[in-house]
Amino acid sequence: MISKTMEAALNHQVNRELYSAYLYLSMSAYFESATLKGCAKWMRVQATEEQAHAMKIYDYVIARGGKITLEAIEEPQGKWTSAGKVFEEVYAHEQKVTAMINALVELSTKEKDHATFEILQWFVKEQVEEEEHAGDILARIKMIGDVPGHLFCLDHHLGKRE
Ligand SMILES: [Fe+2]
Ligand SMILES: [Fe+2]
Repeated sequence: MISKTMEAALNHQVNRELYSAYLYLSMSAYFESATLKGCAKWMRVQATEEQAHAMKIYDYVIARGGKITLEAIEEPQGKWTSAGKVFEEVYAHEQKVTAMINALVELSTKEKDHATFEILQWFVKEQVEEEEHAGDILARIKMIGDVPGHLFCLDHHLGKRE
């Protein structure tokens, strides 16, 4: 049985993962309107991954005999001024999520909850990838600057994400 403290913290993380999905879906919609179809596709896949993260925690809480309580998901930002600004936000957002996961790991240690500690290790590794991918795209966007042809190439590349 999971402790009430750990249960509440994990329920909140379900909300944060769903908010991440919502934010990336909003970014996808922005890219659709900016005719950057590849970036829109990348963000849509990213949103689906965040939903899967939420469900991984959701299923785990239930498996441990805990209760799921869904919180309100706030409205995400809907407008950006450039593709670069969007990816700057993705990178910053993933760094915030990493801090949240680290705080959960610390709580699981404090609670002596080894099972939660174990499942959180998957998220620790996932965040390394999330930051790496977002940082990599951001670096490339900065490199190409305002050259439309180069942005078109990057957009095409990002659209290949499955
Ligand atoms: Fe996530
Ligand atoms: Fe993420």
